[in-house]
Amino acid sequence: MRAKFITLEGTEGVGKSSNIAVVENYLRQRNLPFITTREPGGTPLAEEIRQVLLAPRDECVDENTELLLVFAARAQHLSQKIKPALAQGTWVLCDRFTDATFAYQGGGRGISLSKIAQLETFVQGELQPDATIILDAPVEIGLERVTARGSLDRFEKEKHAFFNRARDVYQQRANENPGRYHIVDASQAMDVVKSNIEKIMEQLITT
Ligand code: TMP
Repeated sequence: MRAKFITLEGTEGVGKSSNIAVVENYLRQRNLPFITTREPGGTPLAEEIRQVLLAPRDECVDENTELLLVFAARAQHLSQKIKPALAQGTWVLCDRFTDATFAYQGGGRGISLSKIAQLETFVQGELQPDATIILDAPVEIGLERVTARGSLDRFEKEKHAFFNRARDVYQQRANENPGRYHIVDASQAMDVVKSNIEKIMEQLITT
C-alpha cells in the first residue's frame, strides 16, 4: 500500500490534538510507519516562520505578507519533510495544510481563492493530501475552549465572523470534493467523533 498524506483541519478549539492522537493510534495499531507534523511549521525554519505568523504585534500585518509567509513555511516543510517521508513510504499526518490557507486567508481575510490556488500550484505542483478530515463545530464552542486555555495568538484574537467565514470555506471545499474531504461533527461526544474518524481511516487503508 502506498503511504498516504492525511491532513486535519478545523477552526479554533475543535479538538484537533485529541483527534490527531486517534489517527496516530490507528496507524500504530496497524504497524504503518508515519510521522505527525503541523503547519505552519514542521521544520526548524518553518517553525520560526510560525512564530512570526502567530505572535500578536502592534504593527498591522498585511494580508499578502501573511499569505506569503504561510506558503514560504509550506515550501520548506514540503521539501524537507513531507515529500521525503512520502517518498520513503512513511505516512504523513499533518495538523493543517493548504485548506487552512483557503479558509483563513481566503475566507477569514478575504483574499481571492484563485490567488491562493495560484500559489498552491506554484508551491505544491500536483501534490494534494489523499484525505482531509475537517472537524466541524460551531465557532462559539471552539473559541470558548481556546479562551479558557489562556493567552491568545494573533489568529485566536480574531472575531467570530472571521472564523465563521473560515468554517464556510471549509464546508464549501468539502462539498466540492467529497472524495477527499470528510467532515466530522466535532460537537458530538468524544467517543462518537473517535469512531467516525476510525471509519474514515478504515476506508483510507482499504482503498
Ligand atoms: P494551530 O493553532 O492549529 O496550530 O494553527 C495555527 C494558526 O495558524 C491557526 O489559527 C490557523 C492559522 N493558519 C493560517 O491562517 N493559515 C494557514 O495556512 C495555516 C496552516 C494556519
